[in-house]
Amino acid sequence: MGTLHRGLRNAGSPACRFLAAFAVLLALPRFTAGITRHYTFNVQMTNVTRLCVTRSIPTVNGQFPGPKLVAREGDRLVIKVHNHMNYNVSFHWHGIQQLRNGWADGPSYITQCPIQGGGSYTYDFTITGQRGTLWWHAHFSWLRVHLYGPLVILPKRGEGYPFPRPYKELPPIMFGEWFNADTEAVINQALQTGGGPNVSDAYTFNGLPGPTYNCSSKEPMNELITDLIDALVADTYKLKVQPGRTYLLRLINSALNDELFFGIANHTLTVVEADANYVKPFTAKTLVISPGQTINVLLTTPPNPASQAYAMAIAPYTNTIGTFDNTTAAAVLEYAPTRATSNNRLPLPALPRYNDTNAVANFTSKFRSLATARYPARVPLAVDRHVLFTVGLGTDPCPSNQTCQGPNGTKFAASMNNNSFVRPRVALLEAHYQRRYAGVLMANFPTTPPHPFNYTGTPPNNTFVTHGTRIVPLKFNTSVELVLQGTSIQGAESHPLHMHGYNFFVVGQGFGNYDPVNDPAKYNLVDPVERNTVSVPTAGWVAVRFLADNPGVWLMHCHFDVHLSWGLSMAWLINDGPLPNQKMLPPPSDLPKC
Ligand code: C2O
Repeated sequence: MGTLHRGLRNAGSPACRFLAAFAVLLALPRFTAGITRHYTFNVQMTNVTRLCVTRSIPTVNGQFPGPKLVAREGDRLVIKVHNHMNYNVSFHWHGIQQLRNGWADGPSYITQCPIQGGGSYTYDFTITGQRGTLWWHAHFSWLRVHLYGPLVILPKRGEGYPFPRPYKELPPIMFGEWFNADTEAVINQALQTGGGPNVSDAYTFNGLPGPTYNCSSKEPMNELITDLIDALVADTYKLKVQPGRTYLLRLINSALNDELFFGIANHTLTVVEADANYVKPFTAKTLVISPGQTINVLLTTPPNPASQAYAMAIAPYTNTIGTFDNTTAAAVLEYAPTRATSNNRLPLPALPRYNDTNAVANFTSKFRSLATARYPARVPLAVDRHVLFTVGLGTDPCPSNQTCQGPNGTKFAASMNNNSFVRPRVALLEAHYQRRYAGVLMANFPTTPPHPFNYTGTPPNNTFVTHGTRIVPLKFNTSVELVLQGTSIQGAESHPLHMHGYNFFVVGQGFGNYDPVNDPAKYNLVDPVERNTVSVPTAGWVAVRFLADNPGVWLMHCHFDVHLSWGLSMAWLINDGPLPNQKMLPPPSDLPKC
């Protein structure tokens, strides 16, 4: 049974594994194998109008945002992708652990060569030991700005939630960004000039900017006013609810470059899940959600709402010294049909100021794993490898034949441990599978900062980064503690770090420089939250732990696409273990070629 051993990962000692296997056998009458669900993604250019600007954007099957995938824990997903565009593309199933099966993970040049125009590739994977809200997105250049959709994993049939059963599930809400400009031109130009890329023109709820934006690019004539009102109706996301009910609401931040605050006027939310892991419920009026992260909340509606509608809003959280999209997007929580013209007058929820780092720290400190017998927190207690990565911005010198628009005439770069990741010409996973590393990757990614400095103090004079396709190799089943230390180079800001192939436990975090003597004593090793994306606090650090039991090559990167483009990524290479079920699966026959 191919899936059995997967359910037993992290089960501890061999004896413990044996007992666990025995327990699974006893439970067999309840055990239901998953089913196979087939999807087809036709990736094509589609005309879409937002903010009165019509653009031809990449879509899946003509839909923006893309189709919602629904599965149950244990199911197998088979997604046939046909690329009908002129761009290369690949797809990532963000948060799916892809046990031994990196071939389905999707980041271009890491686990596969991109699918070229006219090409096809089938992603084939089984969802093991996970349930909750995840999502999918393109993983080539900045194409995910348009190519994204929800991936909902329901619990196994007959298995409920560890919280009171909601009356209903609401449609997932994906937060996004809309650019009036061509985003591929935006990032290519920025990489050329070395300056910061242009920022988005709006934030969106499921692709819709809503009533806080107007179509200022066009001079409306009187006879067009009704059209504009129609456009406003079409451009505003509405979530319909009934009074006196409790709903499950799935929230996903698919924005390109911005962490977001979210709130609903006059409503309190109960957080129950993060990144497809249940958490101890807690209430909040404002959520903070980083790109890549998902949060499930229970929304309880009052029995007698004072208004027929309430505004929902998202606005950025950032400490960048550069420009950012400092707008607020709104959507409507609707108890009874409302007229579009009244939307403008709905009071927006009070959200923290854009740079309110304390509000963020206060919110993130509330996340705790359930840590029950049924949903244990299998945090590694013993650590085989301690590693520390600095995370932040940096610069590259300006080529002599050019003038550059980065800091002091340099070019912007970003790095971990001062190494800016260089995209290889072939997929790292293939190189690893064929043991052909020469000229592709180097196993010398530094596991401590090469030049220690006061990371969150005054930055050093020389902020130039080094470049390389460097990885950290790990033996199978190594338990790792990774400290991600933010730097203040080119301004301290937070960085949502996402790890492919794994979840990790967030055992500690703080401001300033990590203190290896005193900070570990404050770790939470009992019920730390388990996530796939964690935000390194502004001018602070975060410590995570994971057990390297999933062989393959796994990308870890900042989920701000601008920082990813500047090189803020690295990869882990987890070697096969000795047993047959601890080895990578062979590649599928239709794996694209570079
Ligand atoms: Cu959601 Cu490598 O990304």
